[in-house]
Amino acid sequence: MIPDADPLPIAIVGCGPGAPEYLTAAGQDAIRSAAVLVGSAQLLALHAAAGQARVVFGSDVAETLAQIERHRRRHAVAVLVSGDPGLCSLARPVLRRFGRASCRVIPGVSAVQAAFAAVGVDWLDAAIVDAHHALPEADIEALSDRQKIAVLGGHREALAWIVRLGARLGDAYTPVVCEDLTLPGERVRILAPGSSVQGPLASRTIVLFLGKELLT
Ligand SMILES: C[S@@+](CC[C@H](N)C(=O)[O-])C[C@H]1O[C@@H](n2cnc3c(N)ncnc32)[C@H](O)[C@@H]1O
Repeated sequence: MIPDADPLPIAIVGCGPGAPEYLTAAGQDAIRSAAVLVGSAQLLALHAAAGQARVVFGSDVAETLAQIERHRRRHAVAVLVSGDPGLCSLARPVLRRFGRASCRVIPGVSAVQAAFAAVGVDWLDAAIVDAHHALPEADIEALSDRQKIAVLGGHREALAWIVRLGARLGDAYTPVVCEDLTLPGERVRILAPGSSVQGPLASRTIVLFLGKELLT
């Protein structure tokens, strides 16, 4: 019996915040060289070419990992994630399951970078809070001494948490609501310091709370 060849490394590609021009050339190369693409329906629609097999990632991580396992023995696989793989993405379970040596991570432009770029503020000392799938575990009190806070706020329930955070921070902070960054419907709203963030928000939303001196 001929033993299986070593599987190719799995490319984990950060596809940027949405607009195709924010996908890096390295990311494009990795996507082009793959026979099987794994990702959300949205990312696959945007980046898959004819002839590439597609594995749609919904929310069943275990099933998606099993599909990657099946394909990687015979095909080059690329896992597409939005933004940068290092921030709340499928990269973590893929790396945990297959190991770093079996993966190649290609960085992307994060929506957090895009949000700070939209207001021209650096993010060296920013606190980043994930409220994408669930309510954040972050302690509102502990955040109140940070001058730059970015909340990934796609989840509907996150809005109530964002409102509470805003109320605690008060008028020393300017809320900035960044929806659908880089996409045709992009909306960046700089609210008056201390004002409450009103919904509904796009499912792709980052809310920044910035010490108000940062925007003067
Ligand atoms: C699963 S996380 C993925 C984050 C991604 N890995 C990154 O680095 O941007 C999804 C969250 O990212 C944010 N997001 C992604 N794309 C966005 C966009 N174009 N505009 C605003 N926020 C976005 C939203 O907070 C959304 O709930």
